[in-house]
Amino acid sequence: MTRLFNSMISQIGHHMNKCYTANGVGLFRSCFHSSAVTQVKQLGVVGAGQMGIGIALVGAKVAQLPVKILDTNLKQIEKGLKLVDVLISKDVSKNRITDEEGVFIKKRITTVTDISELSDVDFIIEAVSENIDLKRKFFEDLDNVLNKESILATNTSSISITKIAAATKRPEKIISGLTTSDETLNITKKLAISMGKTCTQSQDVPGFIANRLLMPYINEAIIVLEQGIATREDVDTTMKLGTNTPMGPLTLADFIGLDTCLAIMKVLHNELGEKYRPAILLQKYVDAGLLDSIKVIWAEFPEVIQEIKLIHLIL
Ligand SMILES: NC(=O)c1ccc[n+]([C@@H]2O[C@H](COP(=O)([O-])OP(=O)(O)OC[C@H]3O[C@@H](n4cnc5c(N)ncnc54)[C@H](O)[C@@H]3O)[C@@H](O)[C@H]2O)c1
Repeated sequence: MTRLFNSMISQIGHHMNKCYTANGVGLFRSCFHSSAVTQVKQLGVVGAGQMGIGIALVGAKVAQLPVKILDTNLKQIEKGLKLVDVLISKDVSKNRITDEEGVFIKKRITTVTDISELSDVDFIIEAVSENIDLKRKFFEDLDNVLNKESILATNTSSISITKIAAATKRPEKIISGLTTSDETLNITKKLAISMGKTCTQSQDVPGFIANRLLMPYINEAIIVLEQGIATREDVDTTMKLGTNTPMGPLTLADFIGLDTCLAIMKVLHNELGEKYRPAILLQKYVDAGLLDSIKVIWAEFPEVIQEIKLIHLIL
């Protein structure tokens, strides 16, 4: 059995365009224009967070599709559209696209706040927070709104897609659970290729491939920090140089978002057992509200640094 689309699209800014994987189907390396043909005529993205915005931009830029983004949080939509502007300007300034192409890409992206406005979308990629109840509710509601031929994909990092699909009356159109049809799988693969991605597939298991391997690695790096074995810098430098990766595990955790890392570790722990217990320090960072980037928040809120130092002392 295969499953698709849990994008492990990494983070903000330039990084956003570099690393996509998908649940069940990993999607790697976006390029600027793809000549691949997709049957999808209108793409929808649910959630204007870092992943949703990244997916929407790749859809509009590489697949050159009209994309509707749904989010109920207006601030998040505003923030997301600003990020789109920044990324398009960066492409223009680096001569990757012309000014005119930049304008067209932006025009292809529209935002909506009511789910009924997605009724004309034929392929949805859900990228709301990593919470099974939230995702199931969206799938149930979308099932009622969308044309019966429309396909639904989730960007989940770890949650069972079969469980999410069970909230709908179209499990054969969900990427991809137990009863996903071959047609749905093929349409999805073509869409991914049109977005400049290379697909990989896995079974519907917690964490799929990428997060099954990546999250325990990040979690262990946080435990190394928690136990005072090495500093943040030494952990990251060792792994960056030692494994020839663009960044170390703690920087990567910052980019992913510590709340997302914790949510994924909790799913792995619940579903796969003790070996995957989240690091105490990870839970504490999230409890302290340090969700987006340890570095940025530490720089902005020195009092929080004190609190974290205290946490280190207590630990
Ligand atoms: N961050 C990563 O690197 C990464 C990588 C791979 C997969 N993922 C997965 O992608 C998904 C999204 O992650 P993210 O990092 O973009 O999270 P995020 O917190 O940046 O964005 C989540 C978005 O969901 C929206 N949302 C929450 N509740 C909503 C509701 N009821 N109605 C409408 N919108 C709602 C929020 O407003 C926000 O815009 C998660 O399932 C995550 O596990 C994340």
